[in-house]
Amino acid sequence: MAYKHFEAIEKHAALLGILTAVMVSIGGLAEITPLFMEAHTVKAPPNVKPYDALRLAGRDIYVREGCYLCHSQMIRALRAETERYGHYSIAEESVYDRPFQWGSKRTGPDLARIGGKYTDQWHVVHLMDPRKVVPQSNMPGYPWLAGAKLDASDIQARMRGLRKLGDPYTDAEIAGAPDAVNGKTEMDALVAYLQGLGVRNEPAAGLAGAAAPASDGGQP
Ligand code: HEC
Repeated sequence: MAYKHFEAIEKHAALLGILTAVMVSIGGLAEITPLFMEAHTVKAPPNVKPYDALRLAGRDIYVREGCYLCHSQMIRALRAETERYGHYSIAEESVYDRPFQWGSKRTGPDLARIGGKYTDQWHVVHLMDPRKVVPQSNMPGYPWLAGAKLDASDIQARMRGLRKLGDPYTDAEIAGAPDAVNGKTEMDALVAYLQGLGVRNEPAAGLAGAAAPASDGGQP
């Protein structure tokens, strides 16, 4: 009996097509709907704040310069990783990263918790010419960042755009954004971004106040 029904469907191409489309749609809904719900269940922990204006500008420079091509920001829950980089990354830490910078390519070390590991000055020297501080480094230098003034003209629009997507920027933060980036260089912004990575999230990393350690020679 059931076999007869199947035969009828299989012999009518149009009917088969329609029924196939119905089945695929149900399957698609079943897969996609929970993802929309999940976007609302991943909430930022109270100590994870959206990027302030200067760090937001720095994040954009990080993306523009392609730092993610050599650096991940995703510490895996493996002992070798947590001993080297600190607490493993959790999803809630990335709620304000659009696009997220997890990555998987590690020509250089993971940067998810680089904040506070070195001084600002170390970062500047390193970004100008990595071999000044790590002689065997194959990271390129980014000396032009120090001479490039930040373009403050669109920072408010970007913050407003992010607020539409759910980042809880206050009116005062958006109003103060141009002043926060005015006169700053792209280097200032990138270093501020790096110094904020990880420390804002991690409960007890012992990172704060840590003296700049000797570099580990760049083993990823
Ligand atoms: C071609 C690959 C490559 C690119 C692109 C690259 N890096 Fe690196 N980076 C490395 C390597 C290799 C090291 C390890 C040696 C060193 O410290 O210079 C490193 C080290 C670092 C460190 C020190 C990490 C630590 O824990 O000691 C920071 C910070 C860093 N890079 C930031 C950046 C930023 C910001 C950019 C983009 C402007 C960038 N890197 C682009 C390869 C790269």
